Amino acid sequence: MLDFNYYNPTEIIFGENRLEELNEKIENSSRVMITYGGASAKKYGTVDKVKKALGERKVIEFSGIEANPKFETLMEAVKLAKKEDIDFIVAIGGGSVMDGTKFISLAMHYDKEPQDILAHGFEHVPAVKATPFGCVVTLPATGSEMNPAAVITLGGHKLPMMSPLVFPKFSFLDPLLTKTLPKEQIANGVVDAFIHVIEQYLTYPVDARVQDRAAEGVLQTLLEVGEKTYNDNDDLNARKNFMWAATSALNGSLGAGVPQDWTTHMIGHELTAQYGIAHGRTLTIVLPSLLRERKEKKREKLLQYAQRVWKITDGSDDEKIEKAIQKTESFFNSLDIKTKLSDYGIDDNGIDSIVSNLEKLGMTALSETEDLGLDTVRKILIAAK
Ligand code: NZQ
Ligand code: ZN
Repeated sequence: MLDFNYYNPTEIIFGENRLEELNEKIENSSRVMITYGGASAKKYGTVDKVKKALGERKVIEFSGIEANPKFETLMEAVKLAKKEDIDFIVAIGGGSVMDGTKFISLAMHYDKEPQDILAHGFEHVPAVKATPFGCVVTLPATGSEMNPAAVITLGGHKLPMMSPLVFPKFSFLDPLLTKTLPKEQIANGVVDAFIHVIEQYLTYPVDARVQDRAAEGVLQTLLEVGEKTYNDNDDLNARKNFMWAATSALNGSLGAGVPQDWTTHMIGHELTAQYGIAHGRTLTIVLPSLLRERKEKKREKLLQYAQRVWKITDGSDDEKIEKAIQKTESFFNSLDIKTKLSDYGIDDNGIDSIVSNLEKLGMTALSETEDLGLDTVRKILIAAK
């Protein structure tokens, strides 16, 4: 196992109808800004429930944080929050609103240009202060509710940012708040969570037994409850397990002390930035051909994945690996997700522009061994046609 530090201060409040406990989590004297997306949080009553729980506190709303949140929109929120002297934020939504809120909370205090917050990739942002915030999760998918990461769109790129200052103080995980999600968002969430686990698990072995078995447990859970939640809006037990699986997939515990390979996400982010394809879907396009392309590097873990997650025991090693990749792709397809670039109208020119955008971002040495260059990205995308 590799050395690691593991820190996660976010309190999780899990369960049905617990939003009134929000009152106990925030100082009575706080001036609160509620952030949310386009329409759903207001339309389905979550904003009103949060306002009720906040009682007499000064509350202002900032709505309109779009999917794949944009720097420019978030800067409007920063302006408003500063003007209103806000000292606590409640984010209501999925990854986009939670990520956007993380940016707002840092940008309110940042002493350089706010664009600089997005110039540090996976390194910590050199910030010293953030406005504290909590989350009310309406879409299980990204794990943003319990991690220090965000992805913000600026200048046509999706740029990651990381800071321990932006762990949410708390996150409410109420499965009932997710029942209004359109089916395709459930599918997006299931595959996003699944691939978060894969990218921390399918690398090379370092004898990290707890992490491996925990990862396999989350993957198996998603296989068990993903389709159930997708197909049956009333299966609350499946939904609860999906929700906690999505949080567990990216709260840092599976990735501690193991190599990680975020190549699928880095390529996927560019597919979203250029073609507007939903985040989870982009990953399902990239992953199968990435696994085939990197079969030798990932051989031992692919065999472990085939055996422990998919229970594949027959055939040669190569056959087992190919079967596991095929089953993975079929799982995505079972959620009505299309997994080829051509399904989204992306041709060779599209591949060229993805590759050149990664080059512009300096993403020329990806993967757990930092030896996956742009030629290999191109091969992966060609195989995904
Ligand atoms: O805007 P509204 O009307 O609220 O609609 C939203 C949005 O259009 C809708 N929605 C959310 N909750 C709903 C609902 N509709 C009905 N009922 C509800 N209960 O869902 C749409 C998509 O929401 P979004 O937040 O964009 O989805 P998701 O949670 O998948 O987040 C994706 C974003 O997270 C980033 C992605 O890059 C993308 O920007 N990621 C963040 C990560 C992190 N912080 O660690 C890691 C991820 O890999 C990912 O990159
Ligand atoms: Zn993701």
